[in-house]
Amino acid sequence: MVYQNGYQSTMSWPDEVGIISLELYIPNYYVDQAELELFDGGDKFKGKYTVGLGQKQMGFVGDNEDVNSLCLTAVSRLMKRQGYSTKDFGRLEVGTESILDRSKGVKTVLMQLFEDNTDLEGIDTINACYGGTSALFNAVQWVESSNWDGRFALVVAADIAIYSVGNARCTGGAGAIAMVVGPNAALVLDRGLRGTHMKHVYDFYKPKLDSEYPEVDGPLSIECYLSALDICYERYRAKFNLQRSKGQVGDLSEEEFSLDNFDAIMFHTPFCKIVQKSLGRLVLSEYINKGPASKANPKFEKLETFGDITLKGSYHNRNLEKALLEISKPLFEAKTVPTLRIAQRVGNMYTPSLYGCLVSFLTSRSCSELCNNKLAMFSYGSGMAATMYSITTTSDVSKISKLLSSLTSVDSVLDTRIKYTPQKFVDVLKQREETHNRADFTPQHSAESLQNDTYYLVRVDEKYRRTYDCHQFEK
Ligand code: ACO
Repeated sequence: MVYQNGYQSTMSWPDEVGIISLELYIPNYYVDQAELELFDGGDKFKGKYTVGLGQKQMGFVGDNEDVNSLCLTAVSRLMKRQGYSTKDFGRLEVGTESILDRSKGVKTVLMQLFEDNTDLEGIDTINACYGGTSALFNAVQWVESSNWDGRFALVVAADIAIYSVGNARCTGGAGAIAMVVGPNAALVLDRGLRGTHMKHVYDFYKPKLDSEYPEVDGPLSIECYLSALDICYERYRAKFNLQRSKGQVGDLSEEEFSLDNFDAIMFHTPFCKIVQKSLGRLVLSEYINKGPASKANPKFEKLETFGDITLKGSYHNRNLEKALLEISKPLFEAKTVPTLRIAQRVGNMYTPSLYGCLVSFLTSRSCSELCNNKLAMFSYGSGMAATMYSITTTSDVSKISKLLSSLTSVDSVLDTRIKYTPQKFVDVLKQREETHNRADFTPQHSAESLQNDTYYLVRVDEKYRRTYDCHQFEK
């Protein structure tokens, strides 16, 4: 069968379904975390956000950007830079937790970019920071389904992460990612290798529809994140071992499952320190899982003093946490540090966070280094929904090269953003508080300080209808 985009199928389902192209939008404003910690708490806070949480900068947007404009920016740039036509797509999925309307989805706003292709399935997917991953899974599953018509799927994840005054505010951020999904991809999502954990919990939620700020129980959210990681990893490992026993995991079929199987291990990143601790948890899980074999491994010598440790009973054991950080340090530096460059300088983007880590990793390696890699991905959304899954990168350098072609400017964008003082940052948040979801409103922030090709909110009319324009240096 020959599909609309020329893809020729000889199988009952398409091969190597995954991510073909990526476009990351990083907002043009940031605040320095070393300045922010002093502003928030004086000398008492010196080192808290930078050393304690591992952050350098935090990105944010003015009152003329919202979730719709972020998605419009990411999608339009991706289409333009990669030369896609609107008719190349049969599905468009949005993952976000920054909705402005309980009925009209962000996806419908994006339809203004697809006026000549209204045959485009997909709507919004919402559950805290997990919505982007769920949208990606939906897109992959559509391509693998009997409903697939040969066109690509497009996934966009975008959020504005801002918090009320208090200890969570320094863990904000903002951004958007657009991903083209299809067969014969550069980044192939491994079939059947997902470990999922979902549960009812009030760790972080947004019940107040007149505010952009969440209700957060910080310590609970951290425990939920780490416990979800433990469970997802155990389930992922069980599925991997099942596939291995059936001889379905390619080159790794003879090997015992281990973290060493991965070339990169990346996580949803609310702040970098939690990720470092997370890697420690994976090492602990491996130690417990290998039982007596671990005891003979000198790498784990330091853990012997802790006796029979369990995953569940160890979340508040500070000495164990310290030992795990030490043991996992070489692994962290080799496999996770390269994934944190953007998170450290932009902060928590919520739904795009994990995919910002993917972009950090991809842009830290050459095309040939990126071939045949195995990438571990942990996605966490409060409330809660979490999955660990994996990606196998292609052996075809030209596909990697196409994937990287829209990501070459990431570092220059990070370096040329406009720095705001903490006071100016606080003023912007105050302005957003006062104007959030207001009707008959024209934003005050100037479009002139946006990057080229950035969509922005022009006006909200008296019936709450929003209009957008695209800022271009030269029209
Ligand atoms: N110098 C160096 N380190 C410091 C200093 C200092 N002056 N002061 C504190 N620290 C360290 C602390 O020891 C702590 O590190 P540790 O946990 O390794 O010991 C770290 O800095 C943070 O300090 P805390 O006192 O624990 O911070 P606080 O409780 O004020 O807030 C929190 C941290 C809970 C992460 C808060 O920012 C928050 O609620 N954020 C939003 C929730 C969140 O991101 N949860 C994660 C998963 S859910 C999601 O993605 C939204």
